[in-house]
Amino acid sequence: MISEKINNGINGIPLIPGDKSISHRSIIIPAISQGTTEIKNILKSEDVLNTLSAFKAMGVKIEEKKDYINITGGGLNSLQKPKNDLFLGNSGTSARLLTGLLSSQKFSCVLTGDKSLSSRPMKRISDPLSKMNAIIHTNNGCMPLNITGTELKNTSIDIKIPSAQIKSGVILAALNTKGTTKIIENNITRDHTEIMLESFDADIETKKDGNKKIINISGKKELRPKNINVPSDLSSSAFFIVATLINNKSKIIIKNVNNNPTRNGILIALEKMGAKISYLNKRLENNEYVCDIEVESSILNGCELDSEIAKLMIDEYPIIAIAAAFANSPSIFRGLGELRVKESDRLNLININLQRCGVNSEIKGDDLFIYPKKEYIINNNVIKTDYDHRIAMAFAVMGSKIGSLKIKDSESIKTSFPKFVDEFNRIGGNISWKKY
Ligand code: S3P
Repeated sequence: MISEKINNGINGIPLIPGDKSISHRSIIIPAISQGTTEIKNILKSEDVLNTLSAFKAMGVKIEEKKDYINITGGGLNSLQKPKNDLFLGNSGTSARLLTGLLSSQKFSCVLTGDKSLSSRPMKRISDPLSKMNAIIHTNNGCMPLNITGTELKNTSIDIKIPSAQIKSGVILAALNTKGTTKIIENNITRDHTEIMLESFDADIETKKDGNKKIINISGKKELRPKNINVPSDLSSSAFFIVATLINNKSKIIIKNVNNNPTRNGILIALEKMGAKISYLNKRLENNEYVCDIEVESSILNGCELDSEIAKLMIDEYPIIAIAAAFANSPSIFRGLGELRVKESDRLNLININLQRCGVNSEIKGDDLFIYPKKEYIINNNVIKTDYDHRIAMAFAVMGSKIGSLKIKDSESIKTSFPKFVDEFNRIGGNISWKKY
């Protein structure tokens, strides 16, 4: 796609689709509960549709209506052996969560993914699960994963890598395991799994211990369905929020956004930079914090973000890097090692593409330094994305400010936000799908 400079700002009420993390969980958890869950506003993007197909292939009854879907589960141990390998496309969340879930089922199966997912690390999930006696064979630490379902043993699992996907995979394994499994999460990460399981009556207890979180799950207690209304995705909203902040004459309202405190580091960071953001209609829905967010064009300062906040906004570095490029002073974002193992090596791609746009930036260790200028002269207007949806959308926002950027391999945006281009153009953006 090609993103052109805009002159009249970003204005209106963009429609942001359902949260991707909550959408995955809104399939997985109902599928192993006893009875029918109605789910509204689920994200219909490729990643989530791959999770949905996997559960259909495992015999779960899924009815797709215009405004909602119904999922009828048969209990914790009710999944059926799929006829074929389960293909999970680009979705790391599906891969890690399903590995945990399927390791305690009564059949063996194979999980596969696309080129990007097949190069991402999977031992981070198979290692903790093997402490529970799970039988998982990786391909040199990557996909395909061969999982032989078996009765697991409860134990204590210490999770060192800051990853909600690992934590959630282990929680899902523990649900179908006798006795109490204890998880020590050394870095607090997004807690959508814990929140949803509590509302489905799981026997799950969580407590904070300084910077750690202890989660105790007593397994083999059947889950009770609870209807779900998926809020809008803050990570997808962030592209519109930053586009509004950096472009003049801009003001938007985003309705019904998830504002979970384990997820909203981007808002805290942008406010630290001087962003004008107001929170309206704050409420709790399905025990998740939800609100409407009003944003307007702002003068931004640079900021230093430490590795603690990185865990609360790990998917938002591509777009906050764009905000930092238009600040009055340099920014330093520390502790970004995890960005190297996302859908692409995001740390490297952010740096390379900023430089192509004429921004001075550098990586030292796991830290990213951005030195903004008043005007940019583009060095190379072809943006390299390695099929990473968030790199593509972040640099589309960059294009709205500095003009004509050709964003390669941008079809990847269908993994999380299929209507991104339409929505962005509807409220003032100028992106086209022209081939070049
Ligand atoms: C996710 C967790 C994060 C995030 C991903 C979605 C989830 O990954 O990057 O987009 O839904 O649990 P990690 O937990 O591996 O950091």
